[in-house]
Amino acid sequence: MKTLLTASIAVIASLSFNVSAADIAAGKAKAATCAACHGANGISAIPMYPNLAGQKAEYMVKQLKAFKSGERKDPVMTAMAMPLSEEDMINVSAYFASLK
Ligand code: HEC
Repeated sequence: MKTLLTASIAVIASLSFNVSAADIAAGKAKAATCAACHGANGISAIPMYPNLAGQKAEYMVKQLKAFKSGERKDPVMTAMAMPLSEEDMINVSAYFASLK
């Protein structure tokens, strides 16, 4: 029982990611495609599109993964999240989180 518990803690720990290790410059490059809807500075000009500037990085990574997996459904964002690797998601989220 104790072994099982230790094993599951190890699995959970390996699944968590380190946002502080994110590459904001790489994220900014990736974010060019997001700007059309979410705004060049992460502030959207269109009411339907959410602001991403200053949003929590962990939350955005979670949403991007959910769009990609189909857990969260939006035809536009699912298409946007599809080509992103986990590293891209972490970087792009860190970039938007760094904006005011
Ligand atoms: C064609 C327009 C469009 C583009 C391009 C786009 N998005 Fe989105 N995004 C949306 C819409 C619309 C929503 C709201 C979806 C919903 O209602 O569930 C959204 C939602 C999101 C959310 C969730 C926000 C929240 O508050 O829950 C994140 C994170 C996000 N987009 C990131 C990105 C990233 C990163 C890119 C670039 C790789 C990108 N988006 C490109 C339209 C777009």
